[in-house]
Amino acid sequence: MAASSNPPLIAPSILSADFARLGEEVRAMDEAGADWLHIDVMDGHFVPNLTIGPSVVKALRAHSSKPFDVHLMIAPADPFLDAFAEAGADVITVHPEAGPHLHRTVQRIRALGKKAGVSLNPATPAKALDYVLDDIDLVLVMSVNPGFGGQKFIAGQLKKIEAVARRIAKQNLGVAIEVDGGIDADTARQAVDAGATVLVAGTAAFRGGPGSYAGNIRALRGDG
Ligand code: DX5
Ligand code: ZN
Repeated sequence: MAASSNPPLIAPSILSADFARLGEEVRAMDEAGADWLHIDVMDGHFVPNLTIGPSVVKALRAHSSKPFDVHLMIAPADPFLDAFAEAGADVITVHPEAGPHLHRTVQRIRALGKKAGVSLNPATPAKALDYVLDDIDLVLVMSVNPGFGGQKFIAGQLKKIEAVARRIAKQNLGVAIEVDGGIDADTARQAVDAGATVLVAGTAAFRGGPGSYAGNIRALRGDG
């Protein structure tokens, strides 16, 4: 399917950063041209890994004025929405499986003045967006099973990206399509061709250390 000709936004996932120097890493990615910074929040329960909480997001806020794209892989998510909003999140994305009332959750995110995202796991159908697509700003299509960086891109998810893109175009909505997991220069192109407008990359963005970040971002955007 024909995609938009605009270059995608690049959202490096700090999951692949050096956690001992997280502030400097965020600053370096910002200066290297990252459009957003993707922050993976995991609870060791919804996904089999534990990462960071609102206090780390708050501490990082001083290091960049780029949008903080907070991906909540936690269940329940509702009790933490206010804390992530106050910590400085700009986009807050939840998984439909994380709670019984997805619509209430996205309403709450927007009431906090933040952009609301819904994330689809590889086995979660696009149908999960029914009755919430009008009320959100972003759909995050997972192209790996959430929990870890460095996994292989699941090519079968390209069809889902296309289906979501068709729906958004048909309804004439301004909803961003973000793709997360296994993104490198090759899979970035495939995702963009399928309709992705924002690309998350951990491994491929942070590869080689700070001196490589600008080149990594250009390669992911398709202009390097
Ligand atoms: C996976 C996370 C991703 C991850 C991507 O659960 O949501 O954001 O950090 O890492 P790569 O790009 O290495 O697949
Ligand atoms: Zn993520």
